[in-house]
Amino acid sequence: MPKPFIMDHPLIQHKLTWLRDANTGSKEFRELTSEIATLMCYEATRDLPLQDIQITTPMGPATTKVLAGRKLAFVPILRAGLGMVEGALVLIPAARVGHIGLSRDPDPPLPVEYYCKLPADISERDVIVLDPMLATGGSAIDAITQIKQRHPHSIKFMCIIAAPEGLEALGQAHPDVQVYCAALDERLDENKYIIPGLGDAGDRIFGTK
Ligand code: PRP
Ligand code: URA
Repeated sequence: MPKPFIMDHPLIQHKLTWLRDANTGSKEFRELTSEIATLMCYEATRDLPLQDIQITTPMGPATTKVLAGRKLAFVPILRAGLGMVEGALVLIPAARVGHIGLSRDPDPPLPVEYYCKLPADISERDVIVLDPMLATGGSAIDAITQIKQRHPHSIKFMCIIAAPEGLEALGQAHPDVQVYCAALDERLDENKYIIPGLGDAGDRIFGTK
């Protein structure tokens, strides 16, 4: 199985526990999803290049660092990925946001694309795909295949919970894409839901069940 970057920071793990809890309502679920996305984004952007600039502090001249002008785009997979966008933008407000709409058909459990709108200059951008759940990997694989057709500079995939099955499938289909997650769970059930997981992320974010 390709090696995911698992974010075991105590703040992320603490928030993830309440995200999983069946008693957590939609409002709190949305807040937690957004907060976790912010914390994860901090780590997922650790390798952004820096460049030196000259500034003047109150004490005199200094050579200091700024981001080296690389542009970012976040691409949430609808619907549940929307829950991670605001949190990611907290850290990188200048990032562009594309959207890919996929839903899993229950039978067979395959993703069906219903929307795709990406930034026009995506070929100049580093893309971080956002989706709380990586289950079979079908949605992530399809979304990344779509994005690759527009030749972005690079692609990362950031989810909150990954299943081993999805990681394996995504790694086979897109071995160049680094996966960031907060937890690697045990397995999928017979309906392709993650165990122990958190249930249906889209329904819990939008209160549709
Ligand atoms: C969920 C989730 C992922 C997908 C993961 O979305 O947000 O996109 O399932 O499953 P997979 O790895 O097996 O493809 P869903 O299709 O339920 O749509 P929603 O976000 O609109 O609820
Ligand atoms: N999508 C979800 O929202 N939850 C799962 O457990 C699997 C796919």
